Amino acid sequence: MGILLAVLLSGIIPKPVSVAAHAAQYTVPASVVVSASSADERNVAQFAKQFLATRGVSVKIAASTSTAIRLSARAHDPSIRAEGYKLHVGRDGVRIVANSGAGLFYGLQTFEQLFTPGGNNAIQQVDISDAPSYPYRGIHLDVGRHFFPVSFVEKYIDLAARYKLNTFHWHLTEDQGWRIEIKKYPRLTTVASCRNGTMIEHDFKSNDHVRYCGYYTQAQIREVVAYAKKRYVNIVPEIEMPGHSVEVLAAYPQLACKPGNYQVFTIWGVSDDIVCPSERTVAFYEDVLTEVMGLFPGPYIHTGGDEAPKTVWKKSPLVKNLMRKYHLANEDAVQGWFDTRIESFLRAHGRRMIGWDEILGGNVSRSAIVMSWRGLSGGIIAATRGNDVIMSPDPTLYLDHAQGDDAYEPLNIGGLTTLRDVYDFDPGIDALTPNQAKHILGAQANLWSEYIATTQLAEYDLLPRMLALSE
Ligand code: ACM
Repeated sequence: MGILLAVLLSGIIPKPVSVAAHAAQYTVPASVVVSASSADERNVAQFAKQFLATRGVSVKIAASTSTAIRLSARAHDPSIRAEGYKLHVGRDGVRIVANSGAGLFYGLQTFEQLFTPGGNNAIQQVDISDAPSYPYRGIHLDVGRHFFPVSFVEKYIDLAARYKLNTFHWHLTEDQGWRIEIKKYPRLTTVASCRNGTMIEHDFKSNDHVRYCGYYTQAQIREVVAYAKKRYVNIVPEIEMPGHSVEVLAAYPQLACKPGNYQVFTIWGVSDDIVCPSERTVAFYEDVLTEVMGLFPGPYIHTGGDEAPKTVWKKSPLVKNLMRKYHLANEDAVQGWFDTRIESFLRAHGRRMIGWDEILGGNVSRSAIVMSWRGLSGGIIAATRGNDVIMSPDPTLYLDHAQGDDAYEPLNIGGLTTLRDVYDFDPGIDALTPNQAKHILGAQANLWSEYIATTQLAEYDLLPRMLALSE
């Protein structure tokens, strides 16, 4: 392989499973027809058209199959694994075949990466076959600590899709702000979506005292869901419970274990004030989740579960009653009871619950999916007991950590996660048996936004580490 060819083909991210490069090149003509007939094919053809327009190529989309660029999402080819594709670039043109819209879309991403930025439209003749190693390939964004506009959320999804990540975990609620319109509970947006200041240093004292608000309307959420669907990205919405919920108490103090004047948090960290596991609270979250399920069609709903201090629950007569009534040994088991209530509700509506690994503390049911963030151990325990797992370990996949020498980094939450750390991460765990390993659905990197107040900082932290994740 010539040096130029090696450079071009090593530039495909993530690296395809198999690449056979041929000596000759193929030049995409100035005007081409792209064949597409099914809805998926036409959808992907539109992306091909947009891309080729940036290369000065004019595209017509037609059902005919004797065209320069042929797309098929209906290959029925058993040698192509889920979300996989085969890309052929030859003398006769370009052919991308897949068994699904997602596979075809990924084939197009690879095709686009064959072009040299700014160069001519001569690309290497190749045969590539490719498929992802894991069905869950996620990237997360915390919009609670800082709110990001729809335009940026869409850009984020676009970037993820371009590198064949298929899941966007939208962390929508936090102590510092509730970010999703819920029609039945208007105070979530009039009260819980605003805070009276933001902590701007690590000292828990420096605060800008500037009112900070933001939320997505249901119409905006629908727009983002449709945007993601076109790019074969599933959105996992996260509604945190029972911890990280003081903003809910600011709006609906009757959900607390004790009366109080609760305020949306203006500092970072974990609030002791969490919702009470009462019937009223369960009903509240069931109502919220009903609206959430109406907005997000995907199979998974994330319900948090992390960092829920039991300080208040330990003093609560209601919690003591629950322990007696259901023979629960301690307050963590009460959280398990609460998580299981919510999990059963979601399951009854055809959805699967994802929770942070703390949900294992309360003997959550086998059908819940565990997102392992306190290292890998929660994921290993979960896979061993038969729960599906997403590996999302702190620090390796926490993109809010510095990515280099702190002397040159913007103010951040602390810690160090280098490009190399992310690149070297593999969610495959040697200690698991093959049957246990099947429970590892994949990996996800998280971008918590305490110290990420702008879209520029978010992009700075995301890139290039997201590409290493995709690899
Ligand atoms: C987490 O980082 N608290 C999930």
